[in-house]
Amino acid sequence: MDQPVAITHAAEPPGLGTVATAMDATSPLIEIRALFKSYRRGDQIIPVLNDISLDIAHGEFTALMGPSGSGKSTLLNLIAGIDKPDSGQLRIAGLDISRLSETALADWRAAHIGFIFQFYNLMPVLTALENVELPLMLTSLSRSERRERAALTLAMVGLDDRMDHYPSELSGGQQQRVAIARAIVTDPTLIVADEPTGDLDRRSAEDVLALLRRLNEEIGKTVLMVTHDANAAKSARRLIHLDKGELSTEQSGQS
Ligand SMILES: Nc1ncnc2c1ncn2[C@@H]1O[C@H](COP(=O)(O)OP(=O)(O)OP(=O)(O)O)[C@@H](O)[C@H]1O
Ligand SMILES: [Mg+2]
Repeated sequence: MDQPVAITHAAEPPGLGTVATAMDATSPLIEIRALFKSYRRGDQIIPVLNDISLDIAHGEFTALMGPSGSGKSTLLNLIAGIDKPDSGQLRIAGLDISRLSETALADWRAAHIGFIFQFYNLMPVLTALENVELPLMLTSLSRSERRERAALTLAMVGLDDRMDHYPSELSGGQQQRVAIARAIVTDPTLIVADEPTGDLDRRSAEDVLALLRRLNEEIGKTVLMVTHDANAAKSARRLIHLDKGELSTEQSGQS
């Protein structure tokens, strides 16, 4: 991995991370109570999450594991405000996001969530720098401020020498690091990652995990990561299992 520069708050420009929330560092960042979610297929109802309750504190690094189809992505998408629960409470930084309108939820998501996908989801026609700049289009930053912040964030993930490359000119591991830069460029409250190492070789996976650990340890970012890889889960300090739509066991990971 190219040598990344130190991750510090100094890279944050003014005007970001100041979105008002009922944030209280003493209460959990994520408070889920009696959460239910089902999908409808034709006239069939498929229950997916069944009475989930969960607290995640500020600054935790949590791994979520469980069999395929157990509802991990569904839970992550609810927490990230991509989907809405059928019922239950879904408080994040003091705000029950299940009660927001679609528009308010989209705004909330843009300000608070950094999402990392298994297959990177970069825009193929944009360079690495332009991909990382994209979430900043929704902010009040000027073009030069956006460029500067995106460049600093790419330097954080060790890709300052790849800024003008298109995704097709980058390795999988490099593309995922661009995707991480895109996820953190807005200084989100929460980083969620759905199998971020699922498509990577072991070496690149280790780079990505090391980066997530640094974001957690060095700047205190709260990270929630779905993984099928027990080894990847060791990067987290807490391990949660989801099985048949229920959080069945909870134990400390290594670290
Ligand atoms: N949009 C949808 N419409 C209908 N059913 C869905 C939808 N999304 C997910 N499901 C169903 O919900 C269940 C849980 O899916 P989910 O993607 O959350 O599982 P997962 O734990 O992430 O699995 P994997 O490890 O394979 O990614 C599955 O039975 C799936 O088929
Ligand atoms: Mg999934």
